[in-house]
Amino acid sequence: MSVVGGKPRGTPPWEINPTRYGLSGGGVNVTGDEVKKLDVLSNDMVVNMLKSSFSTCVLVSEEEKNAIIIDPDKQGKYIVCFDPLDGSSNIDCLVSIGTIFAIYKKTSDSQPNEKDALQSGRNIIAAGYALYGSATMLVLSAGKGVNCFMLDPAIGEFILVDKNVTMKKKGNIYSINEGYAKYFDPAVTEYITRKKFPKDGSAPYGARYIGSMVADVHRTLMYGGIFLYPANSKSPKGKLRLLYECNPMAYIIEQAGGMATTGKEAVLDIVPESIHQRAPIIMGSRDDVQEYLNIVNQSS
Ligand code: F6P
Repeated sequence: MSVVGGKPRGTPPWEINPTRYGLSGGGVNVTGDEVKKLDVLSNDMVVNMLKSSFSTCVLVSEEEKNAIIIDPDKQGKYIVCFDPLDGSSNIDCLVSIGTIFAIYKKTSDSQPNEKDALQSGRNIIAAGYALYGSATMLVLSAGKGVNCFMLDPAIGEFILVDKNVTMKKKGNIYSINEGYAKYFDPAVTEYITRKKFPKDGSAPYGARYIGSMVADVHRTLMYGGIFLYPANSKSPKGKLRLLYECNPMAYIIEQAGGMATTGKEAVLDIVPESIHQRAPIIMGSRDDVQEYLNIVNQSS
């Protein structure tokens, strides 16, 4: 018998526990986000798969305070940093969410430990994300461009649908949580104002903000434009996490010909100091990110 939400299939929706896919009891995870049941389930699934792959030695997850060190009899040479379910505030309203990951090789000869994960994004050997939306797509780069694979549920396989994806040099969409305008740096305010009121008579940019990084970045990859989660006066380091949000996405965007910066340096150049550290991120089409950087440079 198939089961929906812990009840046999056919159970009327009002009898299905509404928290099956939602809140797991009001807790918060190590990074301060509300923990949902699906976050916990996704984390368990990813951790178990990686452990049983016999390929990994250190795992960093958004859901785990400390790095997971794989048992010696199951160890391999790879380090994986991941957000098992990004965009979890969007679960209950059915907006797209996803899984983000970056893979590194262990560089030291010592026993695997948390410090092995503190490598700059330049050391990434593969990264990507799975996006659970109108279809399920895996976007992957192993350092030679970006490829997109769509899940075909009929055969249970991911099919290559988009080979060597390259981003538009310039887009016409900006993506930022403008609710934080009160806290923006002057450069961010200036940039957004120019997108809304172009001085050269061109059409204003469209605004799109989903609030799931994985979905906002995927749209930016596909359609071009710019995604910003910059530092602001309330969050001086931004919000997004370097190891399992910013770095994998910056890697994909660079591999597709785009740019990803903190405003001061390329995201992939940051040498991490702790596994859950945050970083500001501005990424997308080259010309758009460069225009933002020009404003930052003029205003500093
Ligand atoms: O870090 C989790 C996350 O949900 C990202 O997926 C998303 O980009 C961001 O937070 C949204 O944050 P805010 O609600 O502050 O715009």
